Amino acid sequence: MLKSKILSIYDELSKLESYEPCCYVNELFSDLVSLVTHQYPENEINDALDDKDVQSIILNLHKICALGEYYLENHWAEKIAESSTPSETLDIFPYKQNYLKLCNLEYQALVSTKGKKPESTIFLGAGPLPLSAIIFSSRYNINCTVLDKSIEACNQAKKTLDKLDINIRDVICMDSKEYQDYKNHDTIIFAALNGRDQKEKLEIIKNINKNNYNGIILFRSSHSLRKLLYPEIRIPEDTKLRKEIEIHS
Ligand SMILES: C[S@@+](CC[C@H](N)C(=O)[O-])C[C@H]1O[C@@H](n2cnc3c(N)ncnc32)[C@H](O)[C@@H]1O
Repeated sequence: MLKSKILSIYDELSKLESYEPCCYVNELFSDLVSLVTHQYPENEINDALDDKDVQSIILNLHKICALGEYYLENHWAEKIAESSTPSETLDIFPYKQNYLKLCNLEYQALVSTKGKKPESTIFLGAGPLPLSAIIFSSRYNINCTVLDKSIEACNQAKKTLDKLDINIRDVICMDSKEYQDYKNHDTIIFAALNGRDQKEKLEIIKNINKNNYNGIILFRSSHSLRKLLYPEIRIPEDTKLRKEIEIHS
């Protein structure tokens, strides 16, 4: 039964003392990713997601997944920074192909909404391995800025970008709820983990609105069983954002 599979993986994950990558941690996260990407009948998915036991663990599961993703990306960012062949090391990052597909989808969506290529994009919640910005800059030749509230993530991101010789406009260490210069960018990419829950995501949107932002904002959200990995974003109807795109990763 789907519910018991979810609870059993959560049970194992919640017992861990560290989410740094190692065989067992990687195996548990791989099991979770396989579970949420498997095709189940829609009624089974809805029943599992609405179940009160699943509901009661979901916020903690999001925290665990965010930690796991952070440590995994940090581990690879360190490997790249120490490598004598950094591009080859990035090529074997296990989720590189997923990022390439996601960025291609996002690039196409932005070009068709805007009618032309974005000129300056800011990535909110870019993390220590800002792979989306690396792809936007190197593949699509877009001027990119990355922002993250964590000083460790920003320092590691700078080292990784230098090592890969990626030309990024700026690495900004700030909370997205505080940043005031959104107008300097014609596109905002709102990462899936930018804001730990709906409440924090809404505070960030409020800050962007306060700045009378009139560019395009692309939200990475989640759907179906992937809601177990990432918080879904629900954009209120009265939001004054001029143009928004929602991509389900
Ligand atoms: C796991 S990492 C990177 C995510 C991934 N690389 C991506 O493209 O979605 C998520 C990052 O979001 C950052 N973050 C979360 N909330 C934030 C906020 N309110 N402002 C800025 N950064 C935030 C965290 O510090 C963390 O480094």
